[in-house]
Amino acid sequence: MSECRPFSKTIGVWMSDKKSQKLNWKELICVSNSHGYRIVKLDLERPLEEQGEIDVFLHKLTDVIAAADVGDPTASRIISNIEQYLSNHPNIAVIDPLDNVRILLNRYNYYSILQNEPTFSRHGIFTPAFAEFTTCNAQENLEIMRQRGVRFPIICKPTVAHGSKSAHEMILVFNERDLNVCRPPCVVQSFVNHNAVLHKVFIIGNRYHICERPSLKNFTASEDLEPIFYSTGEVCKADSQSTLSILDPHDETDLQMTLKEENIKRIIRVLRKEIGLILAGFDVVIDNLTGRHAVIDINVYPSYENFPNFFENLLNCIDETVNRTIVISGDNGDCQDHHSVSQRLNGLINVAFSASKLGVTGMNIN
Ligand SMILES: Nc1ncnc2c1ncn2[C@@H]1O[C@H](COP(=O)(O)OP(=O)(O)O)[C@@H](O)[C@H]1O
Ligand SMILES: [Mg+2]
Repeated sequence: MSECRPFSKTIGVWMSDKKSQKLNWKELICVSNSHGYRIVKLDLERPLEEQGEIDVFLHKLTDVIAAADVGDPTASRIISNIEQYLSNHPNIAVIDPLDNVRILLNRYNYYSILQNEPTFSRHGIFTPAFAEFTTCNAQENLEIMRQRGVRFPIICKPTVAHGSKSAHEMILVFNERDLNVCRPPCVVQSFVNHNAVLHKVFIIGNRYHICERPSLKNFTASEDLEPIFYSTGEVCKADSQSTLSILDPHDETDLQMTLKEENIKRIIRVLRKEIGLILAGFDVVIDNLTGRHAVIDINVYPSYENFPNFFENLLNCIDETVNRTIVISGDNGDCQDHHSVSQRLNGLINVAFSASKLGVTGMNIN
């Protein structure tokens, strides 16, 4: 890693100040340099043209795109400047393209993609039944739920999945009487009992890592239970200690609760094909009665906590993406090259099995 080749390419990076403070820049710069890349921190308040040529644009713009999409003038200006700049420089490899990121800003959109995937059901993969509420009319909303097969208990989630803390404020509702706590626009989804175990999958291109996290205990529909309000961070972080995660004594761990890694790979392949992000993650819970795997969430550029050799894997993936961009944008009409690159990219690697002890785990460790 200390070996330094002359830099042949530049990676322009942008993320919010909050993310930037957590990022281990020293390590990012060091590993990038060892792959022949210089790192430039971009300032979105200044014209990008003035900040030097870049070959790769690496960003976490989810919150800015979400704000632009609801009409925030500053965010809209920033996003349209970036889009203009990228369309003037089609050879820049963008990680990830803004239109692909947009798909994951709306929960209804990505649940629909998952639901429409024809290969999932035969392998025991599904997304729980869901519906969108756009009004507060409880009677109408109940009818929408019936039509779409959504059953109590339900989790009510804001339709917009990024952009603010409130995007992660959830409500568990146990009966139709309490449907009025749902605030549109929101998505309601049937609750799947999963013995309080959440499997988080982090993806960098064709490399992935799976982690277990605490989650919600089992629940059934009830006329007596009041709605439960929670934020995802309180319950599902590695060190969360919510009482909502403590299983009731009669909940025994079922033998069918084993995660099938083959299914995780199937989900990754579908996401790569349908959504096309390099930096993504998703959440899976296993139905404690059927053993079926439910995909309940997909994320853009997730936290990558504990991802082995995060920076080395990121740079390997950037190398592959840059080479692919050159092949695709080159006008020599040589489709053969492009094919062989994408075929090479098709194999999926669980980084836990190939991890060396030398690299940095996750992206935030200083
Ligand atoms: N359909 C569901 N069945 C059971 N638990 C769920 C379901 N949907 C969400 N959860 C629980 O709520 C948490 C937050 O939901 P999620 O859709 O992942 O939102 P976020 O975008 O905040 O991560 C999940 O990590 C999981 O613990
Ligand atoms: Mg989640």
